[in-house]
Amino acid sequence: MAKVHLRKVTRENFRECLNLQVTELQKSWVATTTQSLAEAYVDPNLFPLAVYDGSVCGYEQPEAPMIGFTMYEIVAGVGFIIRLMIDQKYQRQGYGKATMIEVIRRLKLYPDVEMIATSYRQGNKIAAELYQGLGFRQWDISDAISNPTEVYVKLED
Ligand SMILES: CC(C)(COP(=O)(O)OP(=O)(O)OC[C@H]1O[C@@H](n2cnc3c(N)ncnc32)[C@H](O)[C@@H]1OP(=O)(O)O)[C@@H](O)C(=O)NCCC(=O)NCCS
Repeated sequence: MAKVHLRKVTRENFRECLNLQVTELQKSWVATTTQSLAEAYVDPNLFPLAVYDGSVCGYEQPEAPMIGFTMYEIVAGVGFIIRLMIDQKYQRQGYGKATMIEVIRRLKLYPDVEMIATSYRQGNKIAAELYQGLGFRQWDISDAISNPTEVYVKLED
């Protein structure tokens, strides 16, 4: 099973982060890393993280390329996984799922987090299946958030 290692985005690795690419079709499903890092710069509730293969754990400078990016937010008792992307070169190798499992593990360590949730654009079947397989189910918050093109799901325990 694929394993990932998550690291902070720093001066050393941010260029690699900006170069991460998804497929042409997937571009409409996820914000660019440039946008995500800009959002994180102005919002202290956001935690952006670079995704590496698990083998770089323990190395001061990763000896392997960055393979993806994720970002979560902690607000009002909810740990919300706001971004998940695996570079197109490394997709379908289990890294997306492994990243979600690692982010969920981390979110469960925050005493403030009572619920773990995420969302995806309607029509993003890959994300829908991935989240469903991990135990996420429909979260009806349409009254709170009026974005009809986004599907919200929360982790059921
Ligand atoms: C969603 C994404 C992160 C998945 O990453 P990944 O590393 O390819 O995913 P995994 O290899 O861990 O696969 C996990 C599951 O996703 C589904 N999946 C992944 N790629 C798929 C594809 N091309 N077609 C159909 N299902 C796919 C499968 O259910 C797969 O499970 P299985 O193959 O073990 O049965 C990646 O496709 C991506 O970066 N997409 C663009 C951004 C995006 O849509 N992010 C999510 C919403 S914010």
